[in-house]
Amino acid sequence: MKPYVISNVGMSLDGKLATVGGDSRISCEEDLIRVHKIREKVDGIMVGIGTVLKDNPRLTVHKIKSNKNPVRIVVDSKLRIPLNARVLNKEAKTIIATTEKADKEKLKELSKIENVEVIICGKEKVDLKKLMEELYKRGIKSILLEGGGTLNWGMFKEGLVDEVSVYIAPMIFGGKAVSYVDGEGFKTVDEAVKLELKNFYRLGEGIVLEFKVKKDE
Ligand SMILES: NC(=O)c1ccc[n+]([C@@H]2O[C@H](COP(=O)([O-])OP(=O)(O)OC[C@H]3O[C@@H](n4cnc5c(N)ncnc54)[C@H](OP(=O)(O)O)[C@@H]3O)[C@@H](O)[C@H]2O)c1
Repeated sequence: MKPYVISNVGMSLDGKLATVGGDSRISCEEDLIRVHKIREKVDGIMVGIGTVLKDNPRLTVHKIKSNKNPVRIVVDSKLRIPLNARVLNKEAKTIIATTEKADKEKLKELSKIENVEVIICGKEKVDLKKLMEELYKRGIKSILLEGGGTLNWGMFKEGLVDEVSVYIAPMIFGGKAVSYVDGEGFKTVDEAVKLELKNFYRLGEGIVLEFKVKKDE
């Protein structure tokens, strides 16, 4: 059994999650509120270590009035997470998914933090399928996957995403910037992840698109 996974991003019209300079201020205020409403409904919020190192997000529900903070999940094979990362603050529980490669001293230090749990899941890279099973066992039945592009690829490639919702801002970034789904990519259209459009609406100056991921029968 695995959690139900919703992939959400804010992107430019050309599919970028940030500019070549790493500027990721894409969402308008209305979109941030939309995302926080989804955060409030799920059991976990997941990001890759790249996003923690670049943006240092808190990953809490703070744009709307709420008394619920989901578990924060960071996918980090080598425990590169800084001990002062905001995602390790006391506001919510945090699970760090890592591998046998992780530094044992760092693992010890992180495990000492009251609200932090470290799960070893895989040899070199975090085994995302196994991680999903482990999270489900811990009562995490739904996850909001908030990027970045590398982790999104890992999750789509393994068939672990169930739903997609994207905010497209009316902006063009260009260049070799991080995109919605990076990684190696599929070679043919046949292999591509197929989506079914469920809903779309205007939000601020942009548009929100919602899809269900089509699963192979
Ligand atoms: N606009 C938005 O909505 C939005 C949202 C999120 C992020 N962003 C932007 O995206 C950028 C970060 O994206 P990113 O692609 O560099 O990093 P990322 O996807 O956040 O993290 C990727 C890292 O996760 C780790 N990882 C471990 N196991 C993995 C697996 N099985 N599959 C995939 N990754 C695995 C790898 O590092 P290790 O090998 O060290 O573990 C990998 O490099 C930032 O610029 C951020 O601002 C934008």
